[in-house]
Amino acid sequence: MPKLFEVRGLRIAILDPEAAVRGTRRPPVDDRGERLPTGWVEAIPGVSYGVDEGETLALIGESASGKSLMLLGAFGLLPQGARVLGGITTFRDTVFEPVGGGDDNRARDRRRRAKRHTPGTVMDGTDPDWARVVATEVGFLFQNPIASWTPILEIGPQAGEVLDEYTDLTTEEITERVMDALGEVHLPRTRRMFGAFSTELSRGMGQRAMLAAALVKAPKLLIADEPLSGLDVSVSAAILDLIKDLKHRRGMAMVLVTHDLAVVARIADRVAVVYGGRIVEEGPVGDVFGRPQHPYTSGLIGSVPSLTSGRLHPIPGEAIPLSAVPTGRCVFADRCSFVDDVCLESEPPLVESRGGSVACHRAAELDLPGIG
Ligand SMILES: Nc1ncnc2c1ncn2[C@@H]1O[C@H](COP(=O)(O)OP(=O)(O)OP(=O)(O)O)[C@@H](O)[C@H]1O
Ligand code: SF4
Ligand SMILES: [Mg+2]
Repeated sequence: MPKLFEVRGLRIAILDPEAAVRGTRRPPVDDRGERLPTGWVEAIPGVSYGVDEGETLALIGESASGKSLMLLGAFGLLPQGARVLGGITTFRDTVFEPVGGGDDNRARDRRRRAKRHTPGTVMDGTDPDWARVVATEVGFLFQNPIASWTPILEIGPQAGEVLDEYTDLTTEEITERVMDALGEVHLPRTRRMFGAFSTELSRGMGQRAMLAAALVKAPKLLIADEPLSGLDVSVSAAILDLIKDLKHRRGMAMVLVTHDLAVVARIADRVAVVYGGRIVEEGPVGDVFGRPQHPYTSGLIGSVPSLTSGRLHPIPGEAIPLSAVPTGRCVFADRCSFVDDVCLESEPPLVESRGGSVACHRAAELDLPGIG
């Protein structure tokens, strides 16, 4: 059965002025055959991931490993300095080619062109029907809830904006939907709350209000990039419970980026471990955490005191910046205690193994510690 949401072969480049100085790598070519200017480096050479209806996939990995790029790139939402080189995103029967970026002139041109969409045909990133699908069926939660709002507009009308643009609902009906959503996230279902400005909200209230804005669409998929970071422990636990409850009641699928492996264990069905712009392991959470197949996954688990019963095994060394990740060999080789000649001869592909997937030449011989 096709997945609800799927990303295939997503390639992303970032602009790194130092790469131009180093001059060691030719700028990449995108799927339309255009070579990018000097300074652009292919940082994500082709990742694939997806979720079934109602399923939660967590993307985990150290800071700057490329998690947010993988998430935003799939929707053509990359900021300046990052561009999608290729790949396909599918949401139900709507197919989207996110090639391009915020500073791509052709992407800007494409935005002006309106194209009719027939289900199953590939659309470019500016197709109004892709925009409609994303606007009405995908909810987004980001790290900084207050900054996600426009500060000079009241939150109620902002939350209802998408319904105003993409449905035939009347203003009264939209207000009612927003009020219901506020109630659902345990915010006051009042005119006062509807008319509040984001600057009047605490971070916890701001994140609840973002969740309400996502819910007015009745989304089938929630995209959440570090939605709990910056919240204090009790607020974070309350928001996590709320997300869990809403997912259960509404049957929403979710792709969640987080650093917090305990959150993953509580809420996710599957987990993808990201290192150096690649997914190096993927599988059901219980299997990946209980019996990891990749040395990096085992190291991540070993670095979290609450997950390990025995001694901590922090990962030695530091992650390499995405723009300088070596190619033609394992990306984790410099930090891996199991590195061997074979690891330096070619990059291990992500292959199916024990109900999940792993990208390690030596996975079959290793017996790595997981949650103790
Ligand atoms: N818009 C951009 N322009 C240039 N480089 C970028 C851009 N966005 C990201 N990068 C580079 O890619 C790296 C990975 O970014 P990304 O935001 O995907 O990391 P992440 O895994 O989400 O990290 P974190 O856990 O800290 O949020 C960054 O460290 C940065 O070097
Ligand atoms: S391929 Fe080699 S260096 Fe890479 S994770 Fe596996 S054992 Fe370690
Ligand atoms: Mg991020």
